[in-house]
Amino acid sequence: MSISYDAESRVFRLETQNTTYQMQIGPVGHLLHLYYGRPVPDALDYRLLPRDCGFSPNPYDLREHRGWSLDTLPQEYSSADNGDFRCPSIDLRTASGFRGTDLRYAGHEIQKGKYTLEGLPSAFDREDGCETLSITLKDEAAGVAVELLYGVFPRQNVITRAARITNGGVEALWLNRAASACLDLPFGSWELMHFHGRHCMERQPERAPLIHGVQTISSSRGASSHQHNPFVILCAPETTEDTGSCFGVMPVYSGGHFTDVELDQSGAVRLVTGISDAGFSWKLDPGETFTTPEVLFTYTHQGLTHLSHTFHRFLRQNLCRSKFASAARPVLINSWEAAYFDFDADLILTIAEGAKELGADLLVLDDGWFGRRNHDKAGLGDWYVNEEKLPGGLEPLIRKVNDLGLQFGLWVEPEMVNEDSDLYRAHPDWALRVPGRKPAVSRDQLVLDLSRPEVADWIYETIASLLRDYHIQYIKWDMNRHLSDVFSRDIPADRQGEVSHRWVLGLYSILERLTTEFPDVLLEGCAGGGGRFDAGMLAYCPQIWCSDNTDAYSRLAIQHGTSYGYPASAVGAHVSASPNHQTGRRTPLGSRGAVAMAGMLGYELDPGKLTEEERLEIRQQIRDYREFAPLVQLGDHYRLGENAWMFVSEKRDRALVTVTVPAPEGNPRPLHIRLKGLNPEGRYQIRRMTYFGCALQPEPLQGTWSGAALLYGGLTLPQLFGDLPGAQLLLEQTEAL
Ligand code: DGJ
Repeated sequence: MSISYDAESRVFRLETQNTTYQMQIGPVGHLLHLYYGRPVPDALDYRLLPRDCGFSPNPYDLREHRGWSLDTLPQEYSSADNGDFRCPSIDLRTASGFRGTDLRYAGHEIQKGKYTLEGLPSAFDREDGCETLSITLKDEAAGVAVELLYGVFPRQNVITRAARITNGGVEALWLNRAASACLDLPFGSWELMHFHGRHCMERQPERAPLIHGVQTISSSRGASSHQHNPFVILCAPETTEDTGSCFGVMPVYSGGHFTDVELDQSGAVRLVTGISDAGFSWKLDPGETFTTPEVLFTYTHQGLTHLSHTFHRFLRQNLCRSKFASAARPVLINSWEAAYFDFDADLILTIAEGAKELGADLLVLDDGWFGRRNHDKAGLGDWYVNEEKLPGGLEPLIRKVNDLGLQFGLWVEPEMVNEDSDLYRAHPDWALRVPGRKPAVSRDQLVLDLSRPEVADWIYETIASLLRDYHIQYIKWDMNRHLSDVFSRDIPADRQGEVSHRWVLGLYSILERLTTEFPDVLLEGCAGGGGRFDAGMLAYCPQIWCSDNTDAYSRLAIQHGTSYGYPASAVGAHVSASPNHQTGRRTPLGSRGAVAMAGMLGYELDPGKLTEEERLEIRQQIRDYREFAPLVQLGDHYRLGENAWMFVSEKRDRALVTVTVPAPEGNPRPLHIRLKGLNPEGRYQIRRMTYFGCALQPEPLQGTWSGAALLYGGLTLPQLFGDLPGAQLLLEQTEAL
């Protein structure tokens, strides 16, 4: 049993292989958080020494105990306006006008298996021991019941959380905050690590000690965003890649989000995470229930790499439902940077022929194939073929591509509409906009109101028809602006605060239906690159276009930051032309290939513009990648500093090591690297070694070493000179020592 309850001490224990999580029902029914950390056999209630810290109120029924305050004791789901002045998890206002809740224990249930969440993506059990705890808390005055859900995955060391909030009273109430979870850490010193960025430079890690007060990582953009990824880590100051305590917190949500991290007067830390409350207000009529998105938690004392591995495996095995989570991915070629909007059927076929010769598996026809989409000012919404570019439609093109032996994939951006489109002319009211005000435009497009079921149904039907009518094996699902003017025509005024979240629910309903009906289609998420790179999208899309920045040098930082939370199997990574279209930088083809091979490899260039030598090199890259792909997709990813990484097979008998030198120096210091993840008792030989980007080709290393030598002694590489030079080594275990 991974979940237990001791009626005498009133302590709940959630156990995974490497963690214990404890809560206790307090003397008058508040649910207190006791502990989350390494396994311990005892109940840790002795740690909560009540102390009167002044100006921290006491619940009325404990007013004789000045030391007993919700403002200082760790809570499992914090409330507003009840004497706890720290960040609330739930903040509501009733029709009578009062605010806040005083939530007390009302019952609990322990069940085998994993709970599901209505209309929302969530983790699933593979019948290997997940259990669900549901604890109900009630506030009598507001008539509210909060059901806290805990999914305990013992082998995976993950605890999932969510909340269901029900209005059991007789009048309406409005939720102004409905967080998924709260994690109070009463002791210890913690730093916050988060992943900020911008378009073309997503998920840059930033780690800093907490300061007193509240730090918020959030997006009010209606999407998880390029700017602030929802994934955060709390780690001890001494935590490194390989050692030390850290908590990972990953919301399974693709819309606006927040994570508040508060360092309070006592030095305690509170983390509250959930749907962004910018503009959020959810009306609950009597009898109605609101369900929050899920959030994944893990804890390890073994450092950041261990934390990353936990989430990597979990996202692949317990969140993403697609068969492509583990099935081999096609090496694709995408038309975007090859042709942008300027193509016709002949050019696409020429690209396809070139791609076939290079050894690719799938051609993606990106933006520009539909409506009057000759530039980004028109056409979104008109998902029928542009016959001027593609005479005869998609069918003959797809047939010819298939006849070449390539699969066919198509780009769509169904959540959006251009004013210059037949769809908008027919349904101007389908776009989000505030009555009487001109909406903000972004990339000349407006956002369709997915909160309206008829709009969501139309999108589903339109994309489903494409998939039914044509032999399409891959869809790139793009989203190129954020939400503004969030007003929905059909919802009453007192429910307009629901629109942003209803919009995300509309999106999930479309993706749910499409992925159920077309399980063999590989869906790649995209939002102007990696602007919606989150666990919610990963439930449907096994891979997501990581960034519109395809420069290998920039990608080092983007892919490095991404790897803290997300597996390489989720990272769409392409080799593009040089000079790079985003940065103007020139990098050697070998370097571009090596960096893109740290994800799901693709190409985004016109093969017709390659030299014969480049064509040969790409053919070799694709051949190599086919050999590496299982390691990259399913192996354990180790960061060896910021510019080197390795993937190790589950059995630890194969490893792909990549080392890059982004800024070669004259007279450099020795390039020494200690490997990770190998079996210290095994012997490994370099089965293949290539240098890339080198002005002078050094001699390849040769040899057989013990795992211990490679782990503890490390490898010294020859001096590497060039533009982004580096080395790629494939290691294989020859025997166990
Ligand atoms: C943004 C995507 O990230 C690009 O890869 C490309 O598909 C363009 N949109 C097309 O408009």
